Amino acid sequence: MTVVAIDGPAGVGKSSVARAVARELGFTYLDSGSMYRSVALAAAERGLSPAEVAPLIRVQPGDRVLLDGRDVTTAIRDPAVSEGASRAAADPAVRAAMAAEQRRLLAHGDWVAEGRDIGTVVAPDADLKVFLTADPEERARRRARELGVDPTTVLAEQAIRDERDRSREHSPLRPADGAVVIDTTDVTLPDVVRRVVELLRDRR
Ligand code: CDP
Repeated sequence: MTVVAIDGPAGVGKSSVARAVARELGFTYLDSGSMYRSVALAAAERGLSPAEVAPLIRVQPGDRVLLDGRDVTTAIRDPAVSEGASRAAADPAVRAAMAAEQRRLLAHGDWVAEGRDIGTVVAPDADLKVFLTADPEERARRRARELGVDPTTVLAEQAIRDERDRSREHSPLRPADGAVVIDTTDVTLPDVVRRVVELLRDRR
């Protein structure tokens, strides 16, 4: 049973790195951000608060995100959902429900889990904790390329979410004790993936 925790701010490349590391190691990939996004989408659609819908969110490991059996993989990437997820993530009741579901999953099997609080709160005993960073402008460029939108708008929205993640009272974004910090600004994706895989091999 092995857990690799990969945390960091928006657009830093967590999902790409975590997916590739999981593939390389034959581990299962957990995108915890997609859970906060699903909470925001479900709350908006049903006219309920994020805390009311949070206990209903269940994760099925795999590349697609399902909400009550409906494929919401694309819908949860909408900028309005990003903003909703960021707000919902500041609610301690929502965080408690998400962390409980994440711990339930991570208890069995080998995982690469990514998010904001995997190394600090969800899995502080992870075999490897990585915290990815990159310049804000570079992160906004990456996200803008991914979404096919204007980098200036992305940078502004990203700054608001970064600030909310770092300053919230519950589980603020910060490197976990013992986390290896990797600045990815000028590093290619395959190089970051190689580094993470090597770090885990060194520890086992
Ligand atoms: O990749 P990006 O930062 O755009 O989004 P994400 O990782 O899908 O996470 C969406 C939002 O959920 C973030 O803005 C965080 O506020 C929140 N989140 C969190 O608080 N804790 C996590 N473990 C994962 C996401």
